[in-house]
Amino acid sequence: MEPRMRPNNFSKDSTGLKIEELALQKVCEKIPTPFYIYSEANLVETASAYLQNSNANDLICYSVKANGNINLLKILANLGMGFDVVSVGELKRALKAGAKAKKIVFSGVGKSKSDLKFAAEQDIYSINIESAHEVELIKNLKESPRVSLRINPDMAANTHPYIETGKSDCKFGISEAEALEIAKTYSSSEINLVGISAHIGSQITDTELFFELAEKLQALAEQIKKLGHNVDHIDVGGGLAIDYQLENQYDPAQLVKELKEKITGYDLLMEPGRSIVAQSGAVVTSVITEKTNGQRDFLVVDVGMNDLMRPALYSARHTIEEIQDSNAESKNFEVVGPVCETADSFGQNHNLNAKTGDQLIIYSTGAYGSSMGSNYNSRPKPAEILVSKDSFKVIRKAESFEDLIRLEEI
Ligand code: LLP
Repeated sequence: MEPRMRPNNFSKDSTGLKIEELALQKVCEKIPTPFYIYSEANLVETASAYLQNSNANDLICYSVKANGNINLLKILANLGMGFDVVSVGELKRALKAGAKAKKIVFSGVGKSKSDLKFAAEQDIYSINIESAHEVELIKNLKESPRVSLRINPDMAANTHPYIETGKSDCKFGISEAEALEIAKTYSSSEINLVGISAHIGSQITDTELFFELAEKLQALAEQIKKLGHNVDHIDVGGGLAIDYQLENQYDPAQLVKELKEKITGYDLLMEPGRSIVAQSGAVVTSVITEKTNGQRDFLVVDVGMNDLMRPALYSARHTIEEIQDSNAESKNFEVVGPVCETADSFGQNHNLNAKTGDQLIIYSTGAYGSSMGSNYNSRPKPAEILVSKDSFKVIRKAESFEDLIRLEEI
């Protein structure tokens, strides 16, 4: 069999799969599958790659929606990262993890009056405004929070349509013309307009798009400054891709370096989520049974679309591997979950030599994995484990049936 590519800090030897210095089998002996598992070293490496070429005044704001586990946020906060949040819940998570409010930006197309009030009271780095209505709400707040205008630059990110956010007919942000109109209508004593931001989409493989975006935002910032506003930063959002086939690596350090060369006279902000946390995380699952229907061989595993919905929602393909090598002949399987939907599939043609009772690992699931999980089919959410060198700890317990019904009036 061809040697497989794996994320950094994931390897295989005669004891089977290892994360950092820990044999995964040791975790499997103690923790029932399915579970999410993360490598701390992998997380620190990608986060540090973003930080290494930024200056003290720049801010790399990890996008909490990708994975909001407070233990992971703490690691990132300790490295000096900022945070991008899109709800009061995420804002509270970041604060609880020890983030400094002055390192948090708050985006979102539907922020309510009370959301805005709460964010203003925390005195965060910036509220990223996405409508004229929000300007009115903010103008009436006594705190006069720092705000940025989130622009919809009418750019295609060339990604899955569900995660394109910068085209003119997307719901996000405001047009450049509307931004200028707002900057003309309100004086700097009415709104504290300090930034221009955008986020054009996710899983962006063409880094040129970031430079094109930076140029657009900088040109707009110049015009808005001339109208008397003290614009001090440009926020190019998140979106850098990862390679789910595990063949290439996009380089955050290089991206930051080139952005710094292009953006002059402004602090640089970025809001990466996936590219920081995706490759640090994986799902470990057991094969419940093998079956053949029609022409197709299936492995039915104990993780489902409720736990990892990216394949069902975006037809995403995650690389799957056996935790222990066996001598059995490999076959092309469709790997499916136990949920009662045909969409509950992790894809066809996974070449595996697994059988009932074996464990598999599903890679690149640290981002938008557990954070998008649900209890569909009354399935409790799985545990989350953090590996550091040769030890591991549970950073979220598996839910129980009691957790599922706790809030129901019975
Ligand atoms: N900033 C804003 C305003 C965003 O809306 C997002 C992602 C990010 C930053 C972070 O983007 P990233 O660096 O992670 O690409 N569930 C989808 C991805 C949805 C992204 C939503 N917004 C998936 O699993 O592919």
